[in-house]
Amino acid sequence: MKQFHYENGELYVESVPVEKIIREVGSPAYIYSERAISDSYASYQEAFSSHKTVIAYAMKANGNLSILSLLGKKGSGADVVSGGELFRAMKAGIPPDRIVFAGVGKTEQEMKEALEAGILMFNVESSMELDTLSKVASRMGVTANVALRVNPDVDPQTHPYISTGLKKSKFGVPVKEALAEYLRASKLPGIRLTGIHQHIGSQLTQIAPFRDSFTRMIAFSEALKEKGIGISWLDVGGGLGIRYDDEKVPTPGDISREILSRVKDPSQGIILEPGRSIVGNSGILVTQVLYVKKTEVKTFYIGDAGMNDLIRPSLYGAFHDLWPIRVREGASVKADLVGPVCETGDFLVQDRDLPPIKAGDLVSVMSAGAYGFAMASNYNARPRPPEILVSGDRFEVIRPRETYEDLIRSESAR
Ligand code: LLP
Repeated sequence: MKQFHYENGELYVESVPVEKIIREVGSPAYIYSERAISDSYASYQEAFSSHKTVIAYAMKANGNLSILSLLGKKGSGADVVSGGELFRAMKAGIPPDRIVFAGVGKTEQEMKEALEAGILMFNVESSMELDTLSKVASRMGVTANVALRVNPDVDPQTHPYISTGLKKSKFGVPVKEALAEYLRASKLPGIRLTGIHQHIGSQLTQIAPFRDSFTRMIAFSEALKEKGIGISWLDVGGGLGIRYDDEKVPTPGDISREILSRVKDPSQGIILEPGRSIVGNSGILVTQVLYVKKTEVKTFYIGDAGMNDLIRPSLYGAFHDLWPIRVREGASVKADLVGPVCETGDFLVQDRDLPPIKAGDLVSVMSAGAYGFAMASNYNARPRPPEILVSGDRFEVIRPRETYEDLIRSESAR
């Protein structure tokens, strides 16, 4: 997180002191670095510059319009998973011919919206969905560009970190059924087969599963070719991990070497769907410690941000580093950083040696740019925090803090 650094014991984002931002916008707040986002995007662009590639940013990680348009201007497309995401992507000016649409439960209405927009490709996840898309497209008199999401069943024994066991997962068409499904699809009205899609998981820290699944994808595309089905796009999904703690993660360059060493045909397009690796380490969540509570067994720092603002620790037991905004002298203390929400599971940090912190201090929850604000809620009627984008020595509120009025908009008491 190069763009988040200390100067004289004070945390800066690029050239702006975090405290200066918080004085203006209050706490808690999400703060992103434009430089960090641009750099991560550029590392994908450079790694794949020699080949026909669409980088379809997985906007579920962070769908703020300013971030989408920033990426869109650099040439990014979008991986969307709902009509709402499609709406956002289009509002941000991302051209539809760089948008792919995944998800196991697309409604007819969402299909219609995406067909009207003229998106690059639907990543279809089941035979029933395929039939529905064929029906919707035929009714509209248009043709849907389709990839089937093939579940490659990368063996969890070999790669225990994909612990969900992909055979059991709800996503995609099992690899064993995929060929038959492609043949069936090739005869359906309103369907044009243009790609193969895969996405094997998120926060992957090893290259081996990418290699295995890509090998299976290439083999599968060869099998399709033998049956007379040529494919324009290999969509390899996202999933590249980031460093939250001390993980060593592969780079876009590592991924591109795996892929481009085996795709010789320059007309064979590649689609990537990175989310977390673009924005994850480009953002932080700043919270103020309101109270310190020491019990017989624990020390709690009670902050003004909770699970409604950042749910990853509560939901996945995820690790997020904690940095003070102003470094204090003194010994570390084993403590929890908890939020104000009425749930025992409302914590951001649990049982960790933390730097010395006093009531009133601001602290930064690191690596919060992906699946942070995007998964935030209004639980306990808590307005969601603002989002701030720093560029150089300037910062801009790209989404204001929600108000109480926002909480009840379009409701009425009766
Ligand atoms: N493509 C598809 C089809 C996906 O399902 C996902 C993520 C991505 C791309 C982007 O994956 P990424 O590059 O961000 O790893 N909320 C969880 C992560 C859920 C990921 C869901 N799918 C978290 O906070 O860790």
